[in-house]
Amino acid sequence: HHYEQPYRTSYHFQPPKNWINDPNGPMIYKGIYHLFYQYNPKGATWGNIVWAHSTSTDLINWKPHDHAIYPSQPSDINGCWSGSATILPGEKPAILYTGINPKNQQVQNLALPKNLSDPYLREWVKSPNNPLMAPTPQNRINSSSFRDPTTAWLGHDGQWRVIIGSKIDARGLAIMFRSKDFVRWDQVDHPLHYADGTGMWECPDFFPVAKNGRAGIDTSVNGGHVKHVLKVSLDDTKHDHYTVGTYDLKKDIYVPDKESTEGYTGLRYDYGKYYASKTFFDGQKKRRVLWGWVNESSSVDDDMKKGWSGVQAIPRAVWLDASGKQLIQWPIAEIQKLRKDKIKLRNKVVKKGSIIAVKGVTAAQADVEVSFKVKSFKKAQRLKAEWKDPQLACSRMGAAAMGGVGPFGLLVLASKDLEEYTSVFFRVFKGQDKYVVLMCSDQSRSSLNANNDKTTYGAFLDVDPVRENISLRSLIDHSIVESFGSKGKACITARVYPKLAMGDKAGLYAFNNGTERVTITKLSAWSMKKAQIS
Ligand code: FRU
Repeated sequence: HHYEQPYRTSYHFQPPKNWINDPNGPMIYKGIYHLFYQYNPKGATWGNIVWAHSTSTDLINWKPHDHAIYPSQPSDINGCWSGSATILPGEKPAILYTGINPKNQQVQNLALPKNLSDPYLREWVKSPNNPLMAPTPQNRINSSSFRDPTTAWLGHDGQWRVIIGSKIDARGLAIMFRSKDFVRWDQVDHPLHYADGTGMWECPDFFPVAKNGRAGIDTSVNGGHVKHVLKVSLDDTKHDHYTVGTYDLKKDIYVPDKESTEGYTGLRYDYGKYYASKTFFDGQKKRRVLWGWVNESSSVDDDMKKGWSGVQAIPRAVWLDASGKQLIQWPIAEIQKLRKDKIKLRNKVVKKGSIIAVKGVTAAQADVEVSFKVKSFKKAQRLKAEWKDPQLACSRMGAAAMGGVGPFGLLVLASKDLEEYTSVFFRVFKGQDKYVVLMCSDQSRSSLNANNDKTTYGAFLDVDPVRENISLRSLIDHSIVESFGSKGKACITARVYPKLAMGDKAGLYAFNNGTERVTITKLSAWSMKKAQIS
């Protein structure tokens, strides 16, 4: 199938065909991981949305099941949109999701497992009380902007709380409802949080993170040892932004930290393609795991030809950075089970304008970790004010544009004569009183096919390159490149569709187009085995 379907992934989650979008209701139940997702059973474009369902014991290999939730009641007859799972006391999962009713209004529904002794939770029964939350003339909720309930959490008063994404004009808001029994829900008189000028908040996610350490925390936990994270998917720009802050229990509001910027200029889970993500607490491994949807960068025509659209990113463990200012994200450890045939480079100097081939790895299906040491910063360029936007800086200065310190990094999915490559690289600038590290993913040369979106992505990395090496990990899987800068301080995911650098024609290189030489202190690359997915 690789010849016919060169862009299908080998270890990312995707069904055999058709359109997918948001991950829904991820959870672990009786040692089995569940992933539901938005799915069109009828084609490779969005529509006819149901909750498709797969389960796994390792988050890597998956077993498909029948659709878990599909239109069957007036309250969801025009679509079963995104939502979340909550584990109720007594180990009882419950799903809240958005249904589209006959008037095309967005309402919130409840579904419960038919048989709790089935670890696969294959059948779901909808509440006869649905919809449980709906726009009314009294609450004046906008019926086309009221969707994507979060995992619920227990408040100090013993009542459940849930937030639902919404907007009023350009104000994005997280409308909050409260319930004693998970069936009767009352709107709280204030949202959990809102922010002007951010537009519709899709797929909100609200969860605690430990102030110290990497361990995940169950969603209802609060106290002095935790901070809270609010993530919103901004419909206007299709990016997942988050802030770090405090959940004020007295006022029942979320207050982002002063340094944590809201909206488009704020922190993102990923500075490339990554949307409608959702976390869950994995009590078995005591971690918080993040799922995110990565859509195509190909044309709709090409999607219809290949018969599918969308993949899920490799699940990431998330925790609070020691600075307390941002999250760290790292591919779940289980992905390493797929590694084989390790290739190693040690202490390799990469001189100005040079390129090093990394041989012996299946470069279209690989996991690569590399760290660079910069010895001298003398030639570092000054960071110009107009480069404050990292994406813009990366677009202006691609991998081929010579610099002082950098660009250095990897060329992935590269053809033999470099007609095609995707470059993931770094540049170091002189900032006000410190060096500034820019991370880029440049897709402009990724394919000879001109019909793809080849936008360049960029992010600033909060690292001091004098004290630390600059590291990069890239998960490469035929048409997706997920890159993690500095052990997960910034992530950039890209979709690319090479015409030449496909399958065993793909190559992997390290390069330096900066004036200052850099040293690869260590590079490890693994060929990746295929996961069992559909
Ligand atoms: C986000 C989203 C959600 C909605 C779902 C519909 O991608 O638009 O807001 O519930 O997808 O498929």
